[in-house]
Amino acid sequence: MSALRKAEEADALARRSGREDELLAQIEKMFRRLRLAVVFGGDKSREGAVIESTTNPRSWKSYEKVAQDIAASLQRLGCRHIELFPDDMRLGENLKAFDAHLAWVNSGGVQGHCSVAHAPAMLELFGIPYVGHDPMTAAILDSKHVFKRQLQAAGIPTAEFFVWQPGVSPRDPVRDSTFQHAFMGYRGPFIVKPTSGRASLNVTYVERADGLADVVQNIYKLTRNHVLIERFIGGREFCVAAAGPVIHRHGKIERLDGPFTFSLLERRLDESEKVFTSMDVKPITGERAFEIDAEAEPQLHANLAKLAQRIFLELGIETLIRADIRADDAGNLYVLEANPKPDLKMPGPGVTSLVCIGLPKLGMTYDDLIMSVFADRVDVLLSERRGVADRIARLI
Ligand SMILES: Nc1ncnc2c1ncn2[C@@H]1O[C@H](COP(=O)(O)OP(=O)(O)OP(=O)(O)O)[C@@H](O)[C@H]1O
Ligand SMILES: [Mg+2]
Repeated sequence: MSALRKAEEADALARRSGREDELLAQIEKMFRRLRLAVVFGGDKSREGAVIESTTNPRSWKSYEKVAQDIAASLQRLGCRHIELFPDDMRLGENLKAFDAHLAWVNSGGVQGHCSVAHAPAMLELFGIPYVGHDPMTAAILDSKHVFKRQLQAAGIPTAEFFVWQPGVSPRDPVRDSTFQHAFMGYRGPFIVKPTSGRASLNVTYVERADGLADVVQNIYKLTRNHVLIERFIGGREFCVAAAGPVIHRHGKIERLDGPFTFSLLERRLDESEKVFTSMDVKPITGERAFEIDAEAEPQLHANLAKLAQRIFLELGIETLIRADIRADDAGNLYVLEANPKPDLKMPGPGVTSLVCIGLPKLGMTYDDLIMSVFADRVDVLLSERRGVADRIARLI
């Protein structure tokens, strides 16, 4: 970036800081005319969704119900014109017909590689600003091996790993010199998992190195993608949500000094559980996930928040993520992954989501979280992205 461009961006940020009330008034005004599209995962079996149905290296889910929760929340917040659309081949036509000003991406994609990046990539092409990660960030976060290389480059701790590549790596990964270099004689236990996955699907614990080859083949057959082998980190497991510095609570907008980290949780595994059982199989309850007590464990609380902030800042992330972190037996923290599209389901009786658990303690509701994500993105669009945000700037 040129020095001039840097100076312009710093200036734009400085101009917006301290203008929280103005931002809220702008959003309220924007909501009267804004035509907002909430995009969920398209279904490739539906007529007209794709030209040819192919494979899903990432296990598919529509996320339509959560898109409905997000839309209902935005409606309660005052946005008058909202429609839901599937992320598929017709997205451009649909957005054009709806005359959308802005999209909110809540999709893991339809099919093919890097599917989480397809909706933001199309929106970039269409010229429609959006709430969500840019295509490159979405793809990096959803490609665990690429994300881990970014962590390594930034000096953020993550378990040692090897990426098994079809057509390149030997059937038995142990024979690969890169594997030997990565693990330096370590013989297990390991975790083997898809590079793009969700809900612990196909994440497998492997006790010894001689058991790796078969498990790798099995995951490759299911995903047709690279396969990740990591050192098993066997201690406590945690989740931390991180988002941009603009938040909404008590009817006001606040601007924090750094990324907003919240819902710092421990996910409790059973004695015999090596891998946290998917939420799809065992719902989240107070027993399985609970907040870290900052008074009882101040150092742990601070370290987790710091780690999530480092991920957010070092990787240039711009909107909500949920970092999954695990400790070794000595308590050292290792980043497992950062989810680009953490579950945003609206909490109800007996159900919640990992990012929402910590909101009540902060005096925030689900609608405050949705407004925070929205306002933070609008703030970035208006202050740093004049040119791509003209459609929404004209509404205020
Ligand atoms: N290197 C590791 N060491 C120990 N446990 C691990 C490791 N990698 C993954 N796990 C376990 O497997 C679970 C799932 O792994 P990970 O978070 O990478 O995949 P995911 O399927 O994307 O999960 P999510 O449910 O968060 O979408 C973790 O919550 C953790 O319990
Ligand atoms: Mg995870």
